Order: sequence, then C-alpha cells, then structure tokens
Amino acid sequence: MDTQPEQLHAACRRVVAVINGKGGVGKTSTAANVAGQAADAGHNVLLLDFDPQANLSEDFGVTQAGTGHDAGAALFDAVARGRELVPSHPQIRPRLDLCGADPNNTRALVAWLTAHLGQPGGELAVARALAPVAPRYDLVIMDVPPVLEEPRRVAMAAARFLLIPTQADISSLKGLRLVSEQFRQARNVNPELQLLGVLLTFVPEAGKAIRKDVRNDIAADFGTAEPMFQTVIRHALSPARDARGSGLLAHELEQFVPTKAEQFERLRQRAAGATVERAVSSTAVKLAADWASLTEEVLTRIAAAETLAGTGAER
Ligand SMILES: Nc1ncnc2c1ncn2[C@@H]1O[C@H](COP(=O)(O)OP(=O)(O)O)[C@@H](O)[C@H]1O
Ligand SMILES: [Mg+2]
Repeated sequence: MDTQPEQLHAACRRVVAVINGKGGVGKTSTAANVAGQAADAGHNVLLLDFDPQANLSEDFGVTQAGTGHDAGAALFDAVARGRELVPSHPQIRPRLDLCGADPNNTRALVAWLTAHLGQPGGELAVARALAPVAPRYDLVIMDVPPVLEEPRRVAMAAARFLLIPTQADISSLKGLRLVSEQFRQARNVNPELQLLGVLLTFVPEAGKAIRKDVRNDIAADFGTAEPMFQTVIRHALSPARDARGSGLLAHELEQFVPTKAEQFERLRQRAAGATVERAVSSTAVKLAADWASLTEEVLTRIAAAETLAGTGAER
C-alpha cells in the first residue's frame, strides 16, 4: 500500500490514457482499435474502461446482458478494495485482456474516487491498482470518460503517456486548451506523464488540407513542436457504426467487405427483385488501415520516448 510514487510510475511505464473532455471525438474507438491492432501484431495488451457507458466493452461485442453485466466490478475491487486486478474479460482477443465497465460498478468507482481523491495519495489510487499487473503487458490503454473529473485525474496520475483524440472543428480545438491545462496540473502529481500525441479524428476526405493549420494551433497549446500524429482517422460513419453494432474492430470487419464478384452477384440478385442486406462498406478497409498506421506510430513514439529516457533496454 505504501509503495513510493516513483515505483508505481516505473511499473506503469507502458500505460497510455486516452483522454478528452469532449464526448464523441473517438476516444473509445481509438482505445479499442489501437489495442486490437497492437495485440494482433503480437503485443500483450490490457484495456481498461472507466466509462459507465461501457462503449469500449461494446466495441468488443460485450453487452450489458448476461455475463457482461458486472464487468466493472474488477476495476472497482482493485481500486477501492485493494484486490488484485483481474480482467473481467481475459483474452477477449488473442493477447488482449479487457477490464470492462458497467453502469453500476463504474459509477460506484467514480463515487469512491470522489470521496478519496482529497486524501493523501488518493490521486494515485489507479496507479496502485495497476502497478502489480502493468509490467505483465507491453501496452496498457485506459479509456477515460469525458466530463467526469475524478477518473481523468486518477488516470493522468497513473499513466506515462497521454493520447488525445480530437476533431478539427473550432470548439473541439478550444476544448484542447483545457486538456493541455489539465495535463500541466497532472504533472505535479505525476512528473513522468508525457504527451504521446494529439490525434485528428473523423477527418473528411476533402478536409485533409486543414491539418497544417490545426497542427500550428495544437503546437501553441502544448508548447511542443510536433505533438500531432501524422496519421489522421478518416470520417467513415458507416463502417464505424457496423463495427460497434457487431462488436468487431475495423480490421475484423474487413473480411465482411464483399469482393468484386460478390458485389456483382448482389447487384444481379437485387435486379432480379430479391431483398439484399446492406453490405459492409469497402471504406472499412481504409479505416482499418488508418488505425493500423496510428498503432504503428503509437508504438514507435513509445519506443522513442523510452530510448530517450534510457528505459528501453530494460525490456
Ligand atoms: N471514423 C469514424 N468516422 C465517423 N464516425 C465515427 C468514426 N469512428 C467512430 N465514429 C462514431 O463516432 C461516435 C463517437 O465515437 P467514440 O469512439 O465512441 O467517441 P468517444 O469515446 O470520444 O465518445 C460513435 O458513435 C462512433 O460510431
Ligand atoms: Mg467513449
């Protein structure tokens, strides 16, 4: 219980918090797809859902019905009761463990954090829960809800890296200023916290030229030259909806995109008067490629940060 903050942060050196005070900017999709693709590429990954809405669990096909109902109990027990953190859904995909959320337990966790944040060491509650298990993983990703202050503060106090997804519109960019302020405050508790990058999400095909302007704005907020990821995530509503609706990640959806021959056959059937279900859009392939490119950048940036800090060789 009385582990030094330095030891906790050393154990949490591969922990990434996905944060933005705004909802609907792609936080959960980022956490799910980066985790899924990193695991697919051979890394051991742990995903943690701190959002009572439990969208992250949904992205992996876990619903509130049946066994998924008390998914958030694992995080609550670990943080509030000091029990060992046992993923609610181990191996939800090969090499990927999920600690899910649910409305009851995750709200109880937020209430517990609210009551304990003011106490000495309260801010490190999640760091303490994660420290014994984090070293087993190559990557730990936390999906942090918008608006709720407490999960954000404990997540920032535990993480080594901060990943901020944002849309490129004016109000989202204004919201980033607030996140940059919270980032600075968090570094008082957790001096190890670094900005891994800002990710532009849901960028329309025609809107890629805005990137340069946005890059300058973001650099001004964070005082870093190149905080923006090179990768942007394209606007692809239909595959994103299909993915969440079917509990599959973008790269898993790819296999359901019809081939040219299948497309022709569907057209033929439709012309013959048959009812043909809507097919998965071929944009799913491009969306999956965006997530793959981001995952590679995330892993490269982490490796570069570790080399710089001289910790890379330990692994
Ligand atoms: N590439 C995309 N293009 C357009 N919409 C998307 C894309 N990816 C996800 N969405 C949709 O945007 C909404 C918000 O995404 P989500 O990842 O849940 O954001 P957050 O966690 O920040 O609230 C969801 O309804 C999701 O289906
Ligand atoms: Mg979310």
